[in-house]
Amino acid sequence: MSIIIKNDEEIALMREAGAILAWVHEELGKQLRVGMSTMEVDKIGEELIRSKGCIPSFLGYEGYPASICVSVNEEVVHGIPSEDRIIQDGDIVSLDAGVIWKGYQSDAARSYIVGTASAEDQRLVDATKASFFAGIKMARAGNHLYDISRAIDDYIKPYKYGIVKQLTGHGIGKDMHEDPCIPNFRKLTRGPLLKPGMTLAIEPMINMGTWKVGVLEDEWTIVTLDQKKSAHYENTVLITDGDPEILSLTGREV
Ligand code: MF3
Ligand code: CO
Repeated sequence: MSIIIKNDEEIALMREAGAILAWVHEELGKQLRVGMSTMEVDKIGEELIRSKGCIPSFLGYEGYPASICVSVNEEVVHGIPSEDRIIQDGDIVSLDAGVIWKGYQSDAARSYIVGTASAEDQRLVDATKASFFAGIKMARAGNHLYDISRAIDDYIKPYKYGIVKQLTGHGIGKDMHEDPCIPNFRKLTRGPLLKPGMTLAIEPMINMGTWKVGVLEDEWTIVTLDQKKSAHYENTVLITDGDPEILSLTGREV
């Protein structure tokens, strides 16, 4: 495993990519409505990405056919947008998006409850987001990578939710997926040392019920095996010699 350290110019570009992606998510979040198809969400998202001169990194990635992953309820991640999938009141809609800006990437995801939120669903969405922030408290030079994983796991434990194990966060830079893999659950070891200039996509995927997931016949959509709902929250994060910098947040939406 070799984790690429970015230099100042690369970091500057990743900061710009992140700021654009943060804006894309903000705008997309504002436009989500009951009655929209998931295909409409993708089209709006692609338009927003291209309007800033970025390339949607997901489109064509290993054959993925869209720019935004739109995953509803029991769909965990990698949901394929469809004209036939209409967002219903109370749905948990997870939006995952990636942009390429001058050769550098940013990747981020948000889960929203569209329309009326049940207390149970709100708790899942809030805990998923909070687990990311618990994790990045450990994202500091001198700590080790799996300290982040353990902090996410520890945060989720009291909720008795299922933490998805088959999918992880990842390094990111020129490529969407670089070393290392970043599990959202406890490991036996502490893993590699964190150093300034590492850029990591940290992305807890948390299920209301079982942690076990499968894939639909479309060979993309990851779903919970018990059909219970799932939530996802992700940002691209820079390790510095002080506090971590969350590149894909504008600061207004924390
Ligand atoms: N954002 C996803 C990840 O974090 C990747 C989406 S897969 C794609 O790994 F095919 F849609 F690009
Ligand atoms: Co990712």
